[in-house]
Amino acid sequence: MSRRSPTGESRVPFADLAEVRSQFPCLQQQIHGKQLIYLDSAATSQKPSQVIEAVDSYYREYCSNVHRGVHTLSERATSRYEGVRPKVAVLINAPDPHSVIFTRSTTEGINLVARTIGRSRVGEGDEVLISAMEHHANIVPWQMLCEEQGAILRVIPCDENGDLILNDLGSLITDRTKVVSVGYVSNAVGTRHDVKKIISAARTRGAITLIDAAQAISHIPVDVEDLGCDFLAFSGHKMYGPTGIGVLWGRKELLDQMSPWQGGGDMIRTVSFERTTYADTPWKFEAGTPNIAGVIGLGAAVDFLNDVGFETIQEHESQLVAEAMARLDQVEGLSIIGRPSHRISVISFILDGIHPHDAGTIIDQHSVAIRAGHHCAMPLMKHFGVPATIRASFAVYNTHDEIEALTSAIESVKAVFR
Ligand code: ALA
Repeated sequence: MSRRSPTGESRVPFADLAEVRSQFPCLQQQIHGKQLIYLDSAATSQKPSQVIEAVDSYYREYCSNVHRGVHTLSERATSRYEGVRPKVAVLINAPDPHSVIFTRSTTEGINLVARTIGRSRVGEGDEVLISAMEHHANIVPWQMLCEEQGAILRVIPCDENGDLILNDLGSLITDRTKVVSVGYVSNAVGTRHDVKKIISAARTRGAITLIDAAQAISHIPVDVEDLGCDFLAFSGHKMYGPTGIGVLWGRKELLDQMSPWQGGGDMIRTVSFERTTYADTPWKFEAGTPNIAGVIGLGAAVDFLNDVGFETIQEHESQLVAEAMARLDQVEGLSIIGRPSHRISVISFILDGIHPHDAGTIIDQHSVAIRAGHHCAMPLMKHFGVPATIRASFAVYNTHDEIEALTSAIESVKAVFR
């Protein structure tokens, strides 16, 4: 574990995970008179000081627009903003920083692909393939596209463990399949999918592939070259960065062929009433004043991930998940929803006879923050035959003691309903 010195040059080590945790101001508070235990990082992660300070320093020290001004502040803001593209490219092993587009969110990245190349590639009778375990963000844009184009939405099924059934990809992906779009890690039950296998099957049929990496990006190294996908989308706020900022990476040659999806300032080269010509990739996809502070904060979040290191993150989080699984399995009346072969950082469960929302409210009284609901994955809830689950999700700042607190909060819920 290492991090930048205050001068930003040499790197100094984090002493340990306790020091990593101490970087998160929001975690240093009491809720209902007790130390906050935050187990809802799959919804949004907490933000370390270096991210908060990067956003703060943009507003305090060099707040100005990008790409437009010749004055010093604008040049400073532009250089910090553009400096984040190569950082993101390195994070996901993208060969060209210009293939990194800043979006509002994962959702916006998926919609961008559906509305541009999706619209031009998918015609009547064609098929778009997603999986049974997608977040609504990776269902609804494709459903809208299929309705508009007269195309068919097909779904890779999943089994009772929450693993995708991939042995019949040959019949699911045919010459009519134009787009295959799947999540890397399920936000609802934590499955890490074998996306390489899906991408490789899609490529043999010439379908374009998109990976929703929202729940993967802060937990495992994500490598677009190794995956072989055409597009990959993720959000800043689940990787210790600000809300309202996301990334869409795409293969440069595809992005260059694609039309812009929103028109406005900053995405043009020339405008006349007769005709507009567009800026190059990636700027042609970034119409209007972007979320400058968000991009700068995202850059600081990438630094944070690198400073802690994925080896440390993976080791710590897998220990947390293993301990939580072992403890939750011992709670009478608790059923884990989904037992996938590869789980990342998320555990969903239900309690006999107790609605997850009621459980969540009581668990909160014990200062433990979890999510209760359908997790924007209603089709998956239907598959498991539940309206909702209680979900605990973990990040690098969580501790083993917090798992004990979660289990005792669950016992208290049971006591209330006894
Ligand atoms: N997609 C976020 C979640 O899983 C909001 O909670």
